[in-house]
Amino acid sequence: AASTDPEAGRDGDGAVLLRSPSGATARVSLHGGQVVSWKNDRGDELLFTSSKQAIMKPPKAMRGGIPICFPQFGNCGTLERHGFARNRMWALDEEHPGLSRSDSGSRSLVDLILKPSEEDQKSWPHSFEFRLRISLTKDGDLSLVSRIRNVNGKPFSFSFAYHTYLSVSDISEVRIEGLETLDYLDNLSQRERHTEQGDAITFESEVDRVYVSSPNVIAVLDHEKKRTFVIRKDGLPDTVVWNPWEKKAKTMADFGDEEYKQTLCVDAAAAERPITLRPGEEWTGRLELSAVPSTNCSDHLDQPGIM
Ligand code: BG6
Repeated sequence: AASTDPEAGRDGDGAVLLRSPSGATARVSLHGGQVVSWKNDRGDELLFTSSKQAIMKPPKAMRGGIPICFPQFGNCGTLERHGFARNRMWALDEEHPGLSRSDSGSRSLVDLILKPSEEDQKSWPHSFEFRLRISLTKDGDLSLVSRIRNVNGKPFSFSFAYHTYLSVSDISEVRIEGLETLDYLDNLSQRERHTEQGDAITFESEVDRVYVSSPNVIAVLDHEKKRTFVIRKDGLPDTVVWNPWEKKAKTMADFGDEEYKQTLCVDAAAAERPITLRPGEEWTGRLELSAVPSTNCSDHLDQPGIM
């Protein structure tokens, strides 16, 4: 029966297809454990993916969706930028694959696992099991839960981000609420520390910032689309905000010159201070995204952030 076939719900590229009871969908690539599409029940795509991605073949991560940055965020370490997890093949981690299916055979969650290869351990000499559960709630919200376990005999430290490329109508119509008055590290000036002013954040040039100790709920308002993304996080103290703007976009081979207008990266992250796991310890980091019509959107910020 379809409900017990581990291959069910996979498309021609081997990506896993998720569907919520409300009709929202998500597509998850085993390459990188990367969410590459998330659509609401009307079929509107909510995540950005670059039209130029096709020229970047694996093992490089697709530009867009939600790449997982682990065990290093950005360039603060000796590894390749954003670590190796986004460039590896993940495996399905399903003891009971039928359990996640509805009667119709469509599934609303998938469990993936990544363990380091011998090659990975040459550059990062630690043993871990990284379990990633990606699911759609019954209302079509997208949830990612990462559990990272130290299966080594000695402690290790890592940084992490859900590098989330939101799809927006026009970057100049977008604002972020929830980061006002926070301190941020500016990646455009040697991680210099600044303090954000009291207003919601808007965009008119390149931005690459780590907002430290940010609240667990923030909102990204898309004025033109009349849509608000509500981002809830747990276990991830920081929020990274990135838009390459025009000049940098032109230097990126897998990004269209004008595509900076259609996306904003807002990442739930542990970037400023690494997470340390002792032998046998496990860490959990959660992200939940919802996209709602922009009426009374600031109400969402009053909701508790704990999931
Ligand atoms: C951001 C970094 O998080 O990711 C930027 O702060 C970087 O500096 C961007 O350019 C994209 O990184 P990559 O490796 O996917 O091109």
